[in-house]
Amino acid sequence: MMRRPMSLQTRLMTAVIGFVSLILIIVAVITSATLGKTMEDQLDQKLANNAHQLVRLTEAFPPSSATAQNVLASSPAPPVGVLFVVSSPVTGFSGVVAKSTSGDELTGSLETLSGAQLAEIAGALNGTSVATVSITDLGSYRVMALPTNDGVVVVTGLPRDEIQNQLTQLLTVIALATIGGLILLALTTAITIRVSLRPLRAVATTATRVANQQLDRGEVSITERVPASEADPRTETGLVGASLNKLLDHVNTALASRQKNEERMRRFVADASHELRTPLASIRGYSELSLRALRQAPSGVQGPEVVESTTTSLERIQAQSLRMTRLVEDLLLLARLDEGQELVYGTVDLAQLALEGLSDARPTAADHHWNIEVPDEPVTIVGDAGRMHQVVANLLANARTHTPAGTTITLSVAREADDAVLRVHDDGPGIDPAVREELFARFARGDSSRARQTGGTGLGLAIAKAIVEGHHGVLSVDSEPGDTTFTVRLPITPQPGGAVASAA
Ligand SMILES: Nc1ncnc2c1ncn2[C@@H]1O[C@H](COP(=O)(O)OP(=O)(O)OP(=O)(O)O)[C@@H](O)[C@H]1O
Ligand SMILES: [Mg+2]
Repeated sequence: MMRRPMSLQTRLMTAVIGFVSLILIIVAVITSATLGKTMEDQLDQKLANNAHQLVRLTEAFPPSSATAQNVLASSPAPPVGVLFVVSSPVTGFSGVVAKSTSGDELTGSLETLSGAQLAEIAGALNGTSVATVSITDLGSYRVMALPTNDGVVVVTGLPRDEIQNQLTQLLTVIALATIGGLILLALTTAITIRVSLRPLRAVATTATRVANQQLDRGEVSITERVPASEADPRTETGLVGASLNKLLDHVNTALASRQKNEERMRRFVADASHELRTPLASIRGYSELSLRALRQAPSGVQGPEVVESTTTSLERIQAQSLRMTRLVEDLLLLARLDEGQELVYGTVDLAQLALEGLSDARPTAADHHWNIEVPDEPVTIVGDAGRMHQVVANLLANARTHTPAGTTITLSVAREADDAVLRVHDDGPGIDPAVREELFARFARGDSSRARQTGGTGLGLAIAKAIVEGHHGVLSVDSEPGDTTFTVRLPITPQPGGAVASAA
């Protein structure tokens, strides 16, 4: 059978009470032993006084008339319990004991000791002068033998009952006091332990409540905490509660961020599927259209209308395939940048890069005004030239696509302290407020871009940001109507463990 495990409270109580009981028992034993010894000594002292007095009295009698009755009769009334034996070479053994008469404790009448009682006393005193003897009908006695000058031996005795009674009384009092003390101790210990263990109970309750919560799906937040009153870190048990609260805070934050990531990922997958569905639907539509046109045409003969519609369809199919290819490539690039791959490091002159970027962009939008401000000396960073080119191209493409004709676009490069800074400024209408919050998120794009058939996918800025951050830089935006600036800020000194290490 399995033994039920003892609770901490029971263990502590058993230990405390066991320890205190042991101490109390040792104290009781030592006290009663010391007191018993003191009382025995006092009795022996009294016995010796009595003996000497009776020896003197006995010596007043000649050995022929020295009997216990005679000697004691000549003395003042003896106190109750006193025992007196005389052993005379002439009169032989005689003994008396003072017995209580009518409950008087101080004086008693003399009663002759029987031969058997005398034999018991003689037997106990065999060879010693002081002994303890248990006498039939009389009880325990302390006896002392002293010789007189006439060769008579006088034996005096005092009852030990009194000592026994007193010791019993004392032990009873000690035992009662000990039991009372232990009960009181048990109560106070139980209360103290219960109060000090209360925080642990609160911890267990909180932990159980959290454990019963469903945490594996949906939006979860752990609101359960150990009450502040039970989580005082200044006490050992309170510290457990405080630590649990800290852990729950941490888990809660982690769960929230995991949930946010999950949502972002779900939205990303949904957006990506949605983006791919449109070109796929259009490819299917055009392919069905041209197939139908071909089937309906008389066999072997294809009129110019069939050729024209098939050509249009194939052109559309090609355009959509290109769009899909671009989208899939963008997604792949983002995934690789997320993993920290893809960047190939070398030295990049941002001034040169800006000039090239502008000359690529300028012919695509002749109705925009283009400006460039670059320093004469190169602004060199350690980075991936191809990817940095993509950043500039994306920013310039945005400035061109999301602004009306006549907008002035200024591309500038400068060195500011330890940073190389590239800015793309335009005086267009500014960022659509609807997209402002999530501008750099994947698939975030303004309505104008969404509405256009050939519009962007909303990945341009997300890719630019991932590339810039891959270079330990920052991509930021300041925008109000007529004044929009995208700023790329890159450290000139390579980051420790960053670009240079990867380049090596
Ligand atoms: N210079 C700008 N002026 C105004 N709006 C801008 C500008 N640059 C970006 N935006 C807004 O930010 C959105 C997101 O830009 P992003 O480059 O990420 O996507 P996109 O240009 O729409 O598509 P993609 O670049 O993938 O072809 C755009 O749809 C547009 O609404
Ligand atoms: Mg774009």
